[in-house]
Amino acid sequence: MSALFQPFQLKDITLRNRIAIPPMCQYMAVDGLVNDWHLSHYASMARGGAGLVIAEATAVAPEGRITPGCAGIWNDAQAQAFVPLVQAVKAAGSVPGIQIGHAGRKASANLPWEGDDHIAEGDARGWPTIAPSAIAYGAGLPKLPRAMSLDDITRVRQNFVDAAVRARNAGFEWLELHFAHGYLAQSFFSAHSNQRDDLYGGSVENRGRFLLETLKAVREVWPESLPLTVRFGVLEYDGRDEQTLLESIALVRDFKAAGMDMLSVSVGFTIAETSIPWGPAFLAPVAERVRREANVPVSSAWGFGTPEIAERVVKEQQLDLVMVGRAHLANPHWAYFAAKELGVERASWTLPAPYAHWLARY
Ligand SMILES: Cc1cc2nc3c(=O)[nH]c(=O)nc-3n(C[C@H](O)[C@H](O)[C@H](O)COP(=O)(O)O)c2cc1C
Repeated sequence: MSALFQPFQLKDITLRNRIAIPPMCQYMAVDGLVNDWHLSHYASMARGGAGLVIAEATAVAPEGRITPGCAGIWNDAQAQAFVPLVQAVKAAGSVPGIQIGHAGRKASANLPWEGDDHIAEGDARGWPTIAPSAIAYGAGLPKLPRAMSLDDITRVRQNFVDAAVRARNAGFEWLELHFAHGYLAQSFFSAHSNQRDDLYGGSVENRGRFLLETLKAVREVWPESLPLTVRFGVLEYDGRDEQTLLESIALVRDFKAAGMDMLSVSVGFTIAETSIPWGPAFLAPVAERVRREANVPVSSAWGFGTPEIAERVVKEQQLDLVMVGRAHLANPHWAYFAAKELGVERASWTLPAPYAHWLARY
């Protein structure tokens, strides 16, 4: 019996299997509004059979977009634009999730296929960025952010809360806070990017404060019956990983106490110079350790996109949910493909009838 194709329950939500589409920016929004591209993209992901489809990093404020093409949910029109997409994902039997975030000092960038670097100073398509401290990321993202005031911190925390309410009103049933990948929240946690000397910087407790306060504030408005998850980079691969990991695990325990239901284990990406051991399932042992030591359900991504690997990490209880990203861009019916490959009994996989009828004996 396949472990990957067992249902997974978190709060009142049951996923049909352990396969999830991680958030993947499409860079196709206009003024933060999702459109027909997003509808067809997410509908096809859901039809492919994954249990969970998490919509891309969606900005809680205009300056929190990574690029001008990023989705937003800082106003009601943007939330409304998600409704057809949410309905399509549900109609296909998947659970609709959304990741909300703020890009901090990595915002105001060109689309990946137009350079992936900061929009040049003086170019009207760009905007000023904010961060815990006035420290630039460097490499292709040299723009100097403005250090956030305490009012800025209060405002952005409230932006997350308002975004969560809008996401719920749009029908999303799973909410992920983007605290990873060097964006605003991750940059508060990392000493590489946070050199504040107030309550939000310095000690590990202070560096975690913005994340914890934001999580707590969101939990108050996000229904208790629905999953609230966090994506967080638990290490940087910068040569001090054991210390960072210990600090991260302590913070994850606090997340759990504050109402987080699951952690998506990822990398910090706060600095450009790292030695990340890229390779299939390289984060599996890290995720397994966080799962055990913080006693939380975990998911993870990066290189889990072959059926044998995805099956193994669930069977060996390293991950509760497997995020399969680029393999779904290559083949939106990856879940069906995996089921066939793993010899999973027909009743455990899902395809819409117009496909299933023809593919059952194919
Ligand atoms: C096109 C693209 C867009 C992405 N956008 C996001 C995003 O919005 N939020 C996020 O947390 N990660 C994002 N990621 C990272 C993915 O969620 C995932 O971690 C990554 O693709 C590795 O998983 P994979 O090896 O299965 O593709 C993106 C990745 C890709 C390829």
